[in-house]
Amino acid sequence: MSGRIQAPRGTYDVLGEQAAAREALESQARGILERAGYERIETPVFEATELFARGVGESTDVVQKEMYTLETGDESITLRPEGTAPVCRAYLEHGMHKLPQPVKLWYLSSFFRRERPQKGRFRQFWQIGTEAIGSDDPAVDAESILLLAELLEAVGSRGVRLRIGSLGTPDARRAYREQLQAYLRAHEGELAPEVAARIDLNPLRAFDADDAATRRVMAGAPRLLERLADEDREHFETVKELLDGAGQAFEVDDTLVRGLDYYTRTVFEFTSDALGAQSGVGGGGRYDGLIEEIGGPHTPGVGWASGVERILMTAAELPSARPPLDLFVAYATPELRAVAFRLAADVRRAGLAARLELGGRSLKGQLKQAGNARARYVAIFREDGVALRDMETGEQQEVEAGTVMHHITQVTL
Ligand code: HAM
Repeated sequence: MSGRIQAPRGTYDVLGEQAAAREALESQARGILERAGYERIETPVFEATELFARGVGESTDVVQKEMYTLETGDESITLRPEGTAPVCRAYLEHGMHKLPQPVKLWYLSSFFRRERPQKGRFRQFWQIGTEAIGSDDPAVDAESILLLAELLEAVGSRGVRLRIGSLGTPDARRAYREQLQAYLRAHEGELAPEVAARIDLNPLRAFDADDAATRRVMAGAPRLLERLADEDREHFETVKELLDGAGQAFEVDDTLVRGLDYYTRTVFEFTSDALGAQSGVGGGGRYDGLIEEIGGPHTPGVGWASGVERILMTAAELPSARPPLDLFVAYATPELRAVAFRLAADVRRAGLAARLELGGRSLKGQLKQAGNARARYVAIFREDGVALRDMETGEQQEVEAGTVMHHITQVTL
């Protein structure tokens, strides 16, 4: 006999309470983001591989190791590992530069990265994200950060901390990169082998290393934040002032590096003590060069993304979006099933939530089900009439079958 087939590694099914929690989170996010003028966008699940190679960056782990790429005929397509490059592609493709700027978009979509699965890290995961494209005003950065803070606060995320930094312009970064490479080469013997191996490709990632000896070296490494051009320093100062003015706590982290190459100027990350090793609950930053990288004119942008699974892991209590059940319809004998069925259908048509026993349970079993489902009312069809029980007060009255709707709507409306 062949074995049972399971969900692929790093994926999961969304069931029961988790499904309700996701719905609640989505509606919180929609409320917060749409009140701030963000509009929903949905892009395809796959894109031309080149979009991510150019947009996210050839040297990133995401592009080097984690993409699900399919070669079909002469086409190479990739399941989206992130949402910023696709949203920028859509901005260009639909000529959104003609709209009032910045164009503010949000998404809740699934993404795919072939990472080693662990707690809080999946191969298919969902992100809530925002992108504000077409303005380099530091107020857009600050507003964007505040929106993620507001969302985390609204769902009751525990132990949240915000770290921010600035990566300056590509020019400043190039000059800094050379200084850092020289410093790392001078200390090459003390670095972890994988850090030493990446000195040429991605020296900034050395700040991310867990290895103790590497961390000691990095404590004395030159910092980009001390070498920003004046304009970039002022931009960063304004972001910080606006956050301060809005009462948003943050820490400046001059070693904050993000895993994607497109960032310029502001970068930020929210972490939560409630998460384990994968403590990043959401992060983002400014990407003023990305649109040029994928073939468009110079167009600044800023945004973030936050993992749905991680947000829910940090929430003190799972948010619930289950609609209340107005009526559970029970029946004592199989002959009464048709009238009971009709009542449940009528009540639903009237816009209320109604459920009928469908599992072939005894009347006792049905009433237990009604209790578990937290029904507000239970209508019980018996040979000798219909009883309506108010589950809140425990009162029960005999009613005419045709008046059940009247009784429950009078009270619930
Ligand atoms: P990111 O830091 O790669 O940024 O991902 C953002 C968030 O997605 C992470 O903080 C985490 O919550 C979640 N996440 C990432 N990978 C996984 C995974 N394998 N399993 C579960 N959750 C995960 C971006 O994706 C950028 N596009 C964010 C952005 C938007 N920057 C500017 N605009």
